[in-house]
Amino acid sequence: MLNIILLGPPGAGKGTQAARLQAARGMIQLSTGDMLREARASGSPIGEKVKAIMDAGELVSDAIVTALIGERLDACADCGAIFDGFPRTIPQAEALDLLLAERGRKLDHVIELAVDEDELVKRITGRFTCAKCGTGYHDSFRPTKVAGVCDVCGSTEFVRRKDDNEETVRTRMEEYRAKTAPSLPFYERKGLFSRVDGMGSVEEVAAQIDAILGPAA
Ligand code: AP5
Ligand code: MG
Repeated sequence: MLNIILLGPPGAGKGTQAARLQAARGMIQLSTGDMLREARASGSPIGEKVKAIMDAGELVSDAIVTALIGERLDACADCGAIFDGFPRTIPQAEALDLLLAERGRKLDHVIELAVDEDELVKRITGRFTCAKCGTGYHDSFRPTKVAGVCDVCGSTEFVRRKDDNEETVRTRMEEYRAKTAPSLPFYERKGLFSRVDGMGSVEEVAAQIDAILGPAA
């Protein structure tokens, strides 16, 4: 089973592509952003701690996200994992190596989705998600087939993320440039890194990822 990392700035399409790989290849999406939003929604102590940091678009501490990933890895011993938005710093990359090695696993690919900043802002400010099943949509790029009704589960309730506004997006992009981009050479040196053009359609980006991963087992 493959273990892969999807990296890229906010709105690059990590979640969209991870959901597709999960459905197509039976891999498990491990999104630290989703885990932190679940912690917030449950009102847990971790959720309370990270609320203000996330709303400002800054990065949560390495210790918190690494612990969350470790728990999830233990819950999926035999699954192929798609790390979505993790690691985001060099210490997180080093921690992931250790977490995988301790479990007799290794990374197969690290894929960055490259998208221009103006496009990122458009993608993020138009994003919304089904409140019931979590399917992701976009006002212009991926609207529901019937207005106001989820294609997948038929729910009529949708949510927009609190950090999806233009001001916070700029901070999130700056965090990516300053803290995440410097971790890419770590993977280049290991020969695991590929960059794909994330500007195309969802299907075009998916085809580039599939070419890197090879045929589904
Ligand atoms: P996280 O939830 O990971 O947010 P992010 O990295 O900012 O990325 P997004 O989820 O916003 O974008 P995405 O790349 O998944 O794009 P999507 O597929 O939705 O993190 C949120 C916060 O949590 C962080 O700011 C931080 O505070 C904290 N955090 C999380 N992980 C952390 C870590 N490891 N360390 C520290 N802190 C952490 O697509 C966006 C939109 O575009 C959608 O509407 C979609 O429909 C549309 N779209 C997708 N692909 C295409 C396409 N090819 N063409 C047109 N539209 C498209
Ligand atoms: Mg996401």
